Amino acid sequence: MGIDVSVSFTGIRFENPFLLASAPPTESESNILHAFEAGWGGVVTKTIGMHPVVNVAGPKTKFLRYSPEINRLSMNKGRDGVLHSSWNWELISDKPLDWWVPRLERIKQAFPTRVLIASIMAGSGNDRELDHWRTLATACQAAGVDGLELNLSCPHMDRPDMGSNIGKDRELCSFVTQVVKQVARVPVWAKLTPATSDIAVEAGAVFRGGADAVSSSNTFPSLPLIDPDTLEFEINVDGFVSSGGLGGPAILPLSLAKMADMTRAFPDKAFSGIGGISEFSHALNYFLLGCGTVQVATAAMLDRAVGPNVIKRLLAGYQAFFERHADRGWTSLEDFRGLLRNRVVAQSKIRRPDRADYQGGYEPEEGYAAPDPAPGRGH
Ligand SMILES: Cc1cc2nc3c(=O)[nH]c(=O)nc-3n(C[C@H](O)[C@H](O)[C@H](O)COP(=O)(O)O)c2cc1C
Repeated sequence: MGIDVSVSFTGIRFENPFLLASAPPTESESNILHAFEAGWGGVVTKTIGMHPVVNVAGPKTKFLRYSPEINRLSMNKGRDGVLHSSWNWELISDKPLDWWVPRLERIKQAFPTRVLIASIMAGSGNDRELDHWRTLATACQAAGVDGLELNLSCPHMDRPDMGSNIGKDRELCSFVTQVVKQVARVPVWAKLTPATSDIAVEAGAVFRGGADAVSSSNTFPSLPLIDPDTLEFEINVDGFVSSGGLGGPAILPLSLAKMADMTRAFPDKAFSGIGGISEFSHALNYFLLGCGTVQVATAAMLDRAVGPNVIKRLLAGYQAFFERHADRGWTSLEDFRGLLRNRVVAQSKIRRPDRADYQGGYEPEEGYAAPDPAPGRGH
């Protein structure tokens, strides 16, 4: 039986369901062309905006690694240790719309069957800002992009009416989505912030505004750690830091919880899963919760800028998954997408042990530590 790794998502055909997320891997024409050569089914461009962008002085992204020998989690201990997460305070693309438009056209001409999604962002504080959304959407779709992703989720914008500040306000996210949908001829995805108490509320809002899909998660608000020797934040400018975004392995379970909240609330809607993916087994979590595509940022940044080995592993893992479950007769993602969505339930729905077995929460097999011996007595 032939395996079909292509998917249809929001009406767009993808050769495979693996995309590069909006981030440095998709910040230039050459990166995106290399990404398509490497085999990614689609890319979401680095977010394009209308305002001049000036990033902070010094590094914009660092990687936190855990060194078990010294029990240390740090950004500044070189490449040794196990990757824990990425941390960044990078703003959106610092290239203007006119820089992007001819490049979007050329990329689409070079790879007509690969999916190019333009990530866009403007403000929401006045009519001029809302017009910026329309300008971005119409210019990118005229350049030939297959879809738009609305960045309602960057956690560290320097303006109060942008990014996750829109994503945290259900009325604004719904309204901005409607504004874009009025002019859009291509599918519109809304990328939501995980930094709210119930992301299903914002998902409902953007769907009411007409969104064709929700992408999640953007990075989680977070601070770099303080170096115990220098007593400075491991990344800072003149000693100062502001909240940035955490991505990579550390956010996989966090992002899955957000995704499950949305896919259970809207089982018939389309979702693109993001956060902590570097292997097929990670992507599988999102698929089993109901996502139709997944996106990767941190893992690709650490693999020759655009993730050629990551996409190779994702595709090989996908193929191997079908072979391992050949007895189930699955031939495409649709055969198993959402299979475990309904297994996430309220805590009150989880079975308790029979009364007779219940030891008040102190079952010996839980492995409670024996009390410390009295000081000085030893064993
Ligand atoms: C350095 C960096 C820059 C990013 N820039 C953007 C951006 O411009 N627009 C956006 O929507 N998301 C941006 N993201 C968020 C990623 O697209 C992605 O949602 C997040 O990193 C989680 O995925 P990951 O765990 O694979 O890194 C950025 C992430 C990183 C690490």
